[in-house]
Amino acid sequence: MNLEFRLLRAFAAERLNSGLSQEFESHVWCRLVSSHPGFADLTARTAVVTGSSSGIGRAIALELAAAGADVVVHCRRSVGRAEQVATAVRDLGRRAAVIAADLGDVQDCEQFVNECWESELGRPSIWVNNAGADLLTGDAASMSYAEKLHRLYEVDVRGTVLLSRAIGRRMIDLGRGVILNIGWDQADRGMEGDSGELFSVSKNAIMGLTRSLALSLAPAVRVNAIAPGWIRTAWGEQAGDEWHQRVLRETPLDRWGEPQDIAKLARFLVSDEASYITGQVINANGGAVR
Ligand SMILES: NC(=O)c1ccc[n+]([C@@H]2O[C@H](COP(=O)([O-])OP(=O)(O)OC[C@H]3O[C@@H](n4cnc5c(N)ncnc54)[C@H](OP(=O)(O)O)[C@@H]3O)[C@@H](O)[C@H]2O)c1
Repeated sequence: MNLEFRLLRAFAAERLNSGLSQEFESHVWCRLVSSHPGFADLTARTAVVTGSSSGIGRAIALELAAAGADVVVHCRRSVGRAEQVATAVRDLGRRAAVIAADLGDVQDCEQFVNECWESELGRPSIWVNNAGADLLTGDAASMSYAEKLHRLYEVDVRGTVLLSRAIGRRMIDLGRGVILNIGWDQADRGMEGDSGELFSVSKNAIMGLTRSLALSLAPAVRVNAIAPGWIRTAWGEQAGDEWHQRVLRETPLDRWGEPQDIAKLARFLVSDEASYITGQVINANGGAVR
């Protein structure tokens, strides 16, 4: 246990008993967490988390920062929300940068990797491909089936493949690195309806890519994927009671997953604690098996 951690703990214990402002208390606790990353320590590492302006990506960015990493926060156009995440990363005592790029655009993908590689945070040795086109809320919800399929192909599939190949080559030159993809637990066992079909196509592609890329980039670079179950992000927040009941019925642990459930697994998988794990797709789904 380092000296800063011991001093902060003693300081915080005293202050928390003396009724100081919430803001001050939360600042102290942020310093406590950041000065003692503990298990799966990522100190002195730089991480890029795509799609980290909200939802699961936001939670991963903050968890990696709490573990000690400096973080490039990425979004397509929600720069204000991405800046808020960057501020929260800095509150944890880490450095942050915000880069916007449309991953459905081939040139943007190339430029994004270049900018991350040259960023003032240093060479990234952790890359999380989390961004995914939102087909369920907003404008895209009214697109035709073919348009949704095309959007998923451009953003989730082609974008992830291009980023992974570009960063993977650089990580090989660097001599180390970890790539983490986000799949979907129902992709391989199937789900009925338009969304089930569409996301099965894109997420099976990502999970297949994970295994092949792990072979291509070993031994210097590890590549894994997390396959989340029902996670309560934007769509889950507004899902009706019928969906809520279905989630509980299909999830033995009897609750929606939270973004933090995925973030904690991400922290482990990108850390040296997982140094013998590559080419794997790991479900984080509350125990759902069918
Ligand atoms: N939520 C679940 O239950 C669940 C389950 C299984 C898998 N997943 C996967 O987990 C990942 C995150 O999901 P989420 O629910 O947290 O999503 P979310 O809250 O909708 O966030 C999506 C992120 O991706 C970014 N993005 C969207 N389109 C983009 C594009 N064309 N170019 C660049 N960035 C783009 C968004 O940036 P802007 O805000 O700027 O648009 C945002 O930061 C996705 O890959 C999703 O498929 C989610």
